[in-house]
Amino acid sequence: MQWLGIASKVFNVGNYRRKLFGAHQPHHFFDPANPDGQRALSEAAHAALNDMFSWFAHEQGVVAIYDATNATRARRDLLLQRCQQNDVQVIFIESVCEDEALRLANAIEFQKSSPDYAEAADADLALDDFRARVDHYSGYYETMTEKNLTYIKLIDAGSQVIVSQIQGYLQSRVLYYVMNLRIAPRNIYFSRHGESLFNVMGLLGGDSELSARGKQYARTLPLLVATHVPNAERLTVWTSTKKRTIATAKHLPNKKLAWKALDELEAGKADGLTYEQVEEQFPEDFASRDQDKFNYRYQEGESYRDVVNRLEPVLMDLERQQDILIIGHQAILRCIYAYFMNLSHERLPYIKIPLHTLIQLTPGTYACDEKRYKVDIEAVDTHRPKPKTASSAASTNQPQHQESPLVDAAPVVLPSMLPEDIAVAAAAKGEHGKTLQDAAVSDTPRIIISSLSTNTFRCAV
Ligand code: F6P
Ligand code: PEP
Repeated sequence: MQWLGIASKVFNVGNYRRKLFGAHQPHHFFDPANPDGQRALSEAAHAALNDMFSWFAHEQGVVAIYDATNATRARRDLLLQRCQQNDVQVIFIESVCEDEALRLANAIEFQKSSPDYAEAADADLALDDFRARVDHYSGYYETMTEKNLTYIKLIDAGSQVIVSQIQGYLQSRVLYYVMNLRIAPRNIYFSRHGESLFNVMGLLGGDSELSARGKQYARTLPLLVATHVPNAERLTVWTSTKKRTIATAKHLPNKKLAWKALDELEAGKADGLTYEQVEEQFPEDFASRDQDKFNYRYQEGESYRDVVNRLEPVLMDLERQQDILIIGHQAILRCIYAYFMNLSHERLPYIKIPLHTLIQLTPGTYACDEKRYKVDIEAVDTHRPKPKTASSAASTNQPQHQESPLVDAAPVVLPSMLPEDIAVAAAAKGEHGKTLQDAAVSDTPRIIISSLSTNTFRCAV
């Protein structure tokens, strides 16, 4: 939501509880028969609610995520009442999990990542404690059946979705998003295309071929991927429709898909020019871009905001996928990186995504981890930093983000290996007979009410 420019904030009742009463409460704190615990939970719930209404009223909030269990009708009635008083619409999202294996996997993930168990010495005891806490909640849990309420019920992590009373644009966006979320642990890989002839000449946009060094990167990529990606043979490679990304993916033995939506930010009248030529020929535009790079739209071209909007379907598809390597462009990969790293619109257009580097993102419950694998093949630096003189009203007070340092400055690169050998070596690791259609059928969950749409596969609903 934030990535799309919709002011959003999470109000996590657990955080309030930890702040008010300490992080390490044992399971009987959550026992409904424990009046002190119940009073404490209620206090935390109200504190979060009050902050949420204050955010709506004073900070132009649009979508608040009130993250709490709300497992009884009485609690939901209270929430509704307070929201109605404050003129706030409510969507309940219920996550029902009956699959025993999934419940255990969730509990293990929670025990590992929740601040509640950060200092627990014994992981098994912590897991038992959490499962006992879940049992307390199960005792009085009332599933949602209130026909007049707006809700989305996700069953077993989205394998079925039941929708009630969803209306209008914003509510539909929320539905679209949660329907596409998957919680299985996974990595997402991406790399810019190999250095292009336009990169060498400092030209923007275009559809040029790779330089000699770019071609060398393309030849090295299969080995780089085979070295750093577990089960590399399972990857699907997404490229743009530009020659430079398709040529970079050429030697990878994996199945491939070219997305128009992954094409580089359209520079319009600046396409084919250097930054210096743009400054000379369009001085006002150049200054405006430095002033507000996210919102600046090239004449006859696009802004970063436009790109974010056109990338949304790609991101939704990416949320549903397990093994994806994207071979993309500087601006495009900045947008994707910012989505997973939750970076602001001010920060986004200046993120460093160097050439000849494989980036691995691992989304987690509380944060997204990152690793970068740089190949020892030189390339030009196309990053143009924000000039010191350009100011942006919104750029102050932004939390600083530092891209991850390179974790492997010397990956296994064997320049003497022929490209064909590398491809064969990587191909030998897996089966490649599966078609895209096979993958679409086997990966598509059962959906009761669905707005599933994708330009990846055809889909009958
Ligand atoms: O220079 C490479 C490139 O991908 C261009 O094609 C594109 O216009 C530019 O980077 C986008 O980066 P920025 O938004 O920083 O100009
Ligand atoms: C919590 O304290 O972690 C929590 C979610 O509280 P409640 O169950 O009261 O919503």
